[in-house]
Amino acid sequence: MPAWVIDSYGGNDVLRYTTNASFPIIHYPNEVIVRVHAAGLNPLDVSMRGGYGAASLSMKRDPMNLQQKGSEFPLILGRDVSGVIMECGLDVKYFKEGDEVWAAIPPWKRGSLAEFVVLSANEISHKPKTLSHSDAASLPYVGATAWSALVHTGGLTKENCAKKRILILGGSGGVGTFSIQMLKAWGGHVTVTCSQSAEPLVRGLGADHVVDYTAGPVEVALSTLEKFDMILDNIGGDTESWALGLLKPWSGAKYVTLVTPFLQNTDLLGVADGMMQTSITVVSKVLKHLWKGVHYRWGFFIPNGLALEDISEMIRAVVEAEFPFSQVPQAFQKMQEGHARGKTVVHVAEGWGDNSEH
Ligand SMILES: NC(=O)c1ccc[n+]([C@@H]2O[C@H](COP(=O)([O-])OP(=O)(O)OC[C@H]3O[C@@H](n4cnc5c(N)ncnc54)[C@H](OP(=O)(O)O)[C@@H]3O)[C@@H](O)[C@H]2O)c1
Repeated sequence: MPAWVIDSYGGNDVLRYTTNASFPIIHYPNEVIVRVHAAGLNPLDVSMRGGYGAASLSMKRDPMNLQQKGSEFPLILGRDVSGVIMECGLDVKYFKEGDEVWAAIPPWKRGSLAEFVVLSANEISHKPKTLSHSDAASLPYVGATAWSALVHTGGLTKENCAKKRILILGGSGGVGTFSIQMLKAWGGHVTVTCSQSAEPLVRGLGADHVVDYTAGPVEVALSTLEKFDMILDNIGGDTESWALGLLKPWSGAKYVTLVTPFLQNTDLLGVADGMMQTSITVVSKVLKHLWKGVHYRWGFFIPNGLALEDISEMIRAVVEAEFPFSQVPQAFQKMQEGHARGKTVVHVAEGWGDNSEH
């Protein structure tokens, strides 16, 4: 089948188009094969192209560690998919062939930059009819991440969100544009940091207050505001040295960061030592902040088909850039340059009938 693969980790030059990628196989009775119409890209795809997370993702693909180093190649990237079910495993009841579905693909599975992909039925949802495949492919990964960070880790729900003050550090990218909409739909008061050029975008999505982080020290501008019930940090770096001071102390307020050293630690130290180092780091940070009356947490993507169905009606897709299947390297280049204003999507269906090697 046609696919973009990598045979080693590196820069954009490792991306290779082939018409001979192996056809995916249903291994478990709850799996389905999806014919991909559109694939969404995430910063993780660019990082994984360079080898980020290879140690722990290889372990997840092959828990007994029986295979040789490098056996993950040829690797297919692409974490978001919108497409049509071609085949269902024997235990699949809720879906049937021909159903339009969307999903976020866990990073240890073969991705969506291919004509077909295999997923578990609990990872997919029926695609809303109102969304095109392109729009649908822009939402699942950031949606599942935002849901995991805000709801599971942050403790927000549609019932308790009203009037809560939430700060999103980095509101103009994929996770930020999704989170603003979700929190506004639940009645929260949302403050966002972003570049000045992104202010119209985030205001259009409902942000109540916008702070331009390029105009001066952002922590100084934020410290003049009323304190927050929750902070979602999409930026990382030195943010956690000042952000927790912006929370209301002794009120259950939480800081959740999506930028964690987990995969980097396992890459550098190996899986066992990396996980040990990660546990020590997170426990010491949680305790350090707990005695100041605020909660420090790490947020992670968790696949969640049901959450997608729940939130699909309140969210609009923010697709910044669309590429044909022949231009996957250009799509990666765009991602790599940063400054996202929403999402980047690849039209895979346009590549189905194309047999020329690129
Ligand atoms: N832990 C997990 O499982 C998980 C899951 C998903 C994502 N993530 C991570 O979460 C982060 C956000 O993901 P994403 O998909 O939303 O990324 P993205 O689409 O690339 O968006 C990042 C946004 O942040 C803006 N930005 C950069 N520096 C900033 C700063 N100092 N203050 C405010 N805004 C700034 C960028 O625009 P400008 O540069 O133009 O300002 C861009 O709009 C990434 O680091 C990603 O790797 C983690």
